[in-house]
Amino acid sequence: SDPDLVARAAAAKAALGTKVFVLGHHYQRDEVIQFADVTGDSFKLAREAAARPDAEYIVFCGVHFMAESADILTSDDQKVILPDLAAGCSMADMAVLSQVETAWDVLTEVGVAADTVPVTYMNSSADIKGFVGRHGGVVCTSSNAKRALDWAFEQGQKVLFLPDQHLGRNTAVLEMGLSLDDCVLYDPHKPGGGLTPEQLRDAKMILWRGHCSVHGRFTLDSVNDVRERVPGVNVLVHPECRHEVVTAADFVGSTEYIIKAIEAAPAGSAWAVGTELNLVRRLALAHPDKQIMFLDRAVCYCSTMNRIDLPHLVWALEELVAGRVVNQITVDPETARHARAALDQMLALPG
Ligand code: 13P
Ligand code: SF4
Repeated sequence: SDPDLVARAAAAKAALGTKVFVLGHHYQRDEVIQFADVTGDSFKLAREAAARPDAEYIVFCGVHFMAESADILTSDDQKVILPDLAAGCSMADMAVLSQVETAWDVLTEVGVAADTVPVTYMNSSADIKGFVGRHGGVVCTSSNAKRALDWAFEQGQKVLFLPDQHLGRNTAVLEMGLSLDDCVLYDPHKPGGGLTPEQLRDAKMILWRGHCSVHGRFTLDSVNDVRERVPGVNVLVHPECRHEVVTAADFVGSTEYIIKAIEAAPAGSAWAVGTELNLVRRLALAHPDKQIMFLDRAVCYCSTMNRIDLPHLVWALEELVAGRVVNQITVDPETARHARAALDQMLALPG
């Protein structure tokens, strides 16, 4: 990265001292990660934000829904800053509040809403988390989806899982013993979700038709291809990948799980990793004694995570030094109150 920008970021951080706390998601660029006080997956970062009551400014190097969650979990006088407002998430954008309210009306008409517990992946807007909180549900991340679903099935007969069909299906089928037939796919662009009342009544998991454009690119061919090229390779993927990819893989887990699995792997072992490329590249550099490769032949960054670059980080920090708060992310108090209930329920899950 540009040495001038590196020096400016370091100087601005030093000038701000403990007033600023910089969080960096594992998918961020190296040039940004070097300035993170803490790195983590979305679950760890939500907890870290909640655990920093003294930091006046939380600079969130991640995407919009993560900054919203940080704002919800921090106190009113703390300010959360997203260095580039264009850092959204295509998956989170696939579930819009009005669509989810319509879906709930459909469940109500069919007579199953009272038995249904909504569960939303962290990768959703504050509006959706607020909806889930209002209806007695819970937020989950890729590291605690099973625990969240176990809890939800103690509260009701069915789950409406938002917005990532793959995390919902993979967790239900591979970790909880449900069958593929227990799951139905609700398409918000079709009347009634494209499902019959019988299908909605029979289903245990109603999966929202959303997916991650990055993890959704890995295919069964990517797995077969790497196994042919690298005999004995371990295939390790994120649960946002398609069901057939996760089923064909050797290991599946959140970004924190992936990092720990690579750290614990014996020297000389080979690993094909199906997650965002910035993280896979860093893992390969940090473990030169192991053969770490990207699962697919094509390059696969999260383009919105990559919006946060060193120039944007320097700008946000220097503005703070000058006493100006730019790109603050705020959630309205009513939405925040309900979303907080669903987030607190997640933080209180046992285990
Ligand atoms: P985790 O950080 O929960 O592993 O999620 C991955 C991701 O896609 C974040 O946007
Ligand atoms: Fe969203 Fe996927 Fe990017 Fe994560 S990796 S921010 S889920 S598009």
